[in-house]
Amino acid sequence: MNLSRRAFARAAGAGAAAAVFAPLISVKPLFAVPPPAVKGDIRLSANENPYGPSPAALDAMRDAFAKAWRYPDESQDALAGAIAKSHSVAHDQVLLGDGSSEILKVAAAAFTGPSRKLVMAAPTFEAIGAAAKITGADVVNVPLDASYGHDVAAMGAVAGAGLIYICNPNNPTGSITPRASLRGMLASVPSTTAVLVDEAYFHYASSADYESVIPLIASRPNLIVARTFSKIYGMAGLRCGYAISSHETIKQLAAQQAWDSINIMAIAAAQASLGDTQHVVEGRKRNAATKADVVASLKKLGYEIIPSETNFIMINVRRDVRPMLAAMHTHGVHVGRLFPALPQHMRVTIGKPDQMQAFVKAFGEVVGA
Ligand SMILES: Cc1ncc(COP(=O)(O)O)c(C=O)c1O
Repeated sequence: MNLSRRAFARAAGAGAAAAVFAPLISVKPLFAVPPPAVKGDIRLSANENPYGPSPAALDAMRDAFAKAWRYPDESQDALAGAIAKSHSVAHDQVLLGDGSSEILKVAAAAFTGPSRKLVMAAPTFEAIGAAAKITGADVVNVPLDASYGHDVAAMGAVAGAGLIYICNPNNPTGSITPRASLRGMLASVPSTTAVLVDEAYFHYASSADYESVIPLIASRPNLIVARTFSKIYGMAGLRCGYAISSHETIKQLAAQQAWDSINIMAIAAAQASLGDTQHVVEGRKRNAATKADVVASLKKLGYEIIPSETNFIMINVRRDVRPMLAAMHTHGVHVGRLFPALPQHMRVTIGKPDQMQAFVKAFGEVVGA
């Protein structure tokens, strides 16, 4: 996207008010480019991991410069093998992606179309909806249930579904869909409907009611699980994710993908990250501690937070969130965009402790506490 946001707003003939709110609009492909970074601003808007990659990943990338001239086939193969081993699946059950975004896109391309709907929650991570619309598919949005889990019964009951997308834990709510309801849905949905469970935030979830569905692929060949190195592994800028499914489904996904879409730096960093389990343990611990402090501070200010199993929280601000997003921005803190299904909630990524202290201070000032 070469047009700056300002140039885009001008080109679109947007007025001054629209220009102010342009950074807050929620659809990724054209509009979600973050506002220009201002030096010193605190970025809590994209659920990134502010601690970055493992030191081993940084070393591996330095070493990988020497491999930059070659296509990454062997390295790709080695990484897929290591991922397969870590999940106790066969090598041919893994497909690497240019971020898990690419996995979502190829799944939409493979399993949705004019007569095959996409079924997804509202609100959830929107990217796959945009990809399905390109295939000519109807996109059916099913509201989350009262506990902010996916309404799996309603989702499973949609006729003509080619693909059901479940984000667990869910972005933007940080909530989980309990293991029993997810298992029930997977057992009852027609075997012709593919199901994609996006586990981008898997590592942050600690609820006893939460589980990965990777082991269920053995009994449901068109169940796809997407994972990413962008979150706990701190590699959002490098772009590496993957899918686990049956070999037959992986072949269908791979047919939609460009060859060699994952670069050697991302592969080297991902491979090294897998070997640094301590980085994951520490990342989870740091996130939980900082999140607990922020939640306590917000509760003291009188605000409710949806229970979060992720590295972000969703705050009920009890008013239209849009002016607050702009006000936080002027205080130098970038928080999540507007999610139209929850227009009175603000999504905030858990950053480092000092960043979160600055966030709480700015939030207090914006709400006039
Ligand atoms: C639920 C979910 N899935 C997928 C992605 C895409 O991640 P990436 O393409 O960086 O792997 C994100 C990014 O925020 C996300 O929140």
